[in-house]
Parts: sequence; structure tokens; C-alpha cells
Amino acid sequence: MDLGLKGKVAIVTGGSSGIGLATAGLLLAEGARVAICARGEERLQAALLKLQAEYVDAEVMAMPCNVLDEKEVQQLAQAVIQRWGGVDILVNNAGRGRQSTFKDTTDEAWKEELNLKFFSLIYPIRAVYSSMKERAGGRIININAILGRQPEPHMVATSAARSGVLNLTKSLSTEFAPDNILVNCINVGTINSGQWGLRYQKYLQAGGTLPEEEWLHQEASKRYIPLGRVGLPEEVGHAIVFLASAGASYITGASLDVDGGTGRYV
Ligand SMILES: NC(=O)c1ccc[n+]([C@@H]2O[C@H](COP(=O)([O-])OP(=O)(O)OC[C@H]3O[C@@H](n4cnc5c(N)ncnc54)[C@H](OP(=O)(O)O)[C@@H]3O)[C@@H](O)[C@H]2O)c1
Repeated sequence: MDLGLKGKVAIVTGGSSGIGLATAGLLLAEGARVAICARGEERLQAALLKLQAEYVDAEVMAMPCNVLDEKEVQQLAQAVIQRWGGVDILVNNAGRGRQSTFKDTTDEAWKEELNLKFFSLIYPIRAVYSSMKERAGGRIININAILGRQPEPHMVATSAARSGVLNLTKSLSTEFAPDNILVNCINVGTINSGQWGLRYQKYLQAGGTLPEEEWLHQEASKRYIPLGRVGLPEEVGHAIVFLASAGASYITGASLDVDGGTGRYV
């Protein structure tokens, strides 16, 4: 099936690891031209080499960029536009979750979390909007979490911010509809990625002894995931590729759960 992605230009933020890296690979496999960014240069370079080795004829670039620094984000967008003439797809994936309850979240932590969740979308969207408009359309896919609809008290700030992302996605889908720029989000459940690798390291440091696979299985059981396992980054990537594809041309303002059935809302 032709997904209509051949030659399309995509920016994937947070593309050096996990969901972002998997998505970059899947877009390249469809013939898209892909730019990835992240802050850590070493891991970003390793990701670029991995993608170049896997997709030999693919057009891929990597540029260090903190999505919370508007100047760097503008420079990234300009570099992509200069190289490939414009931007068709933006995957706002960079970020992480914050584990804290209301009682132990400081004002500083609240501000950091709200800043991350909103400006990691606002700056990249602002940077690519004109190019998408010039190209008579585009796709923006915000990577969100089911916490936005099913909050967890141990991730109180992240949960609140994620609800805001659902709301922002809806607003933008309406505002950008006349420009044929479709804006959707994906609510991620529990995915075995860099974030979980870090949590496993913390578990080991706290004296945990289970091998990673068993620990992950235990974590999955605690979360009552109906499919009975954590997901793979590629399983989110496929949903992102669909929303970026020609087949999703009448979908905007939607949020799609990729969570193995974890979300218990209707
Ligand atoms: N995995 C899950 O279970 C899960 C659940 C819900 C939501 N999500 C969301 O899904 C997205 C991807 O997560 P993942 O699990 O794939 O995590 P990951 O493997 O840790 O990857 C995160 C990526 O984002 C980059 N990044 C973080 N902050 C950045 C910044 N300020 N500017 C630019 N790049 C930045 C990281 O690189 P550097 O650190 O080098 O910048 C890395 O490339 C995140 O937004 C996360 O919150 C994940």
C-alpha cells in the first residue's frame, strides 16, 4: 500500500531514541526525507549512523537542538527548509514524564513541566507553520500520553499538562484547517523506550534485582494493561506514520490511544 509519503519532508523531535528514532526509521522506509533532533549530540550522531546504515539510499539529517530554545528550533527548521525546500510533517515527540505527587511538586517543577509540555510543541509548530502553509498543507502529530485523559496522582504535573496538550491539539486543528494543516495527537501508554531504561537503572540503584525483562513484566502487571505487555516504540511509530500518510487526509483534531487498552475511559 502506498502511503503517499515518498519525498515528503518530516521533522521528528527527540529522534535520537525510543519512539522518535523508531518513527524516523519507519518514515524513511516509506521514502520520506527525515530530520531528527535532540540535545545530546553523541546519541544523536549514533542514531543518524544507525538510520543511514539501515536505510542506505534514504535522505536523513540530524541536528542538535533543544526544543525549548526557540532560536535553535528556528535554526533547525531553516536548515531543513534550505536542504529540502520545506516541511510537510512535524512529529512533536521530544520530552519525558515527571514522577511527582502534588505534595512533592515544587513551583519550579510545575513551571518546568508546563514549559516542557507546551513549548516543546509551540516553538516547533511556530517554526514550520509558514512552510506548511506555502506547501498547501501539512501534518502535525503531537506525542502525548493517556495521562491527559486518565491522570495518575504520582505524575500529577505531567497529567495536568497532558490534558492541556489534548486541548491545544483541538484548538490548532480548527485554526489550521483552512490551511489544510492537520493536527492530531497520540496518547501513549507504556512503551519500552529510553524512559523505561532510565527507570530500570533507578530500580537497580534502589537495590532491585530482577532482570530487565522480568521487571518490565512486573511493571506492566501493575498497570493492568489488557494486552498484558508493554509496547514497542515501533508500535507507536506505525500510528504516527498513518497519521502522516495520505490515508489520514480527513482526520484532524483527533487523539489516538496507543496503549494496549490501558485507558479505561470511553
Ligand atoms: N515511553 C513511554 O512509556 C511514554 C509514555 C507516555 C508518553 N511518552 C512520551 O513519548 C515521547 C518519547 O518518549 P520515549 O519514551 O521515546 O523517550 P526516550 O527514549 O527517552 O526519548 C526521548 C527523546 O527526546 C529527546 N529530548 C528530550 N528532551 C528534549 C529537548 N528539550 N529538546 C530536544 N530533544 C529532547 C531525547 O534526547 P536528549 O535527551 O538527548 O535531548 C530523546 O531523543 C516523550 O515526549 C514522552 O514523554 C512516552
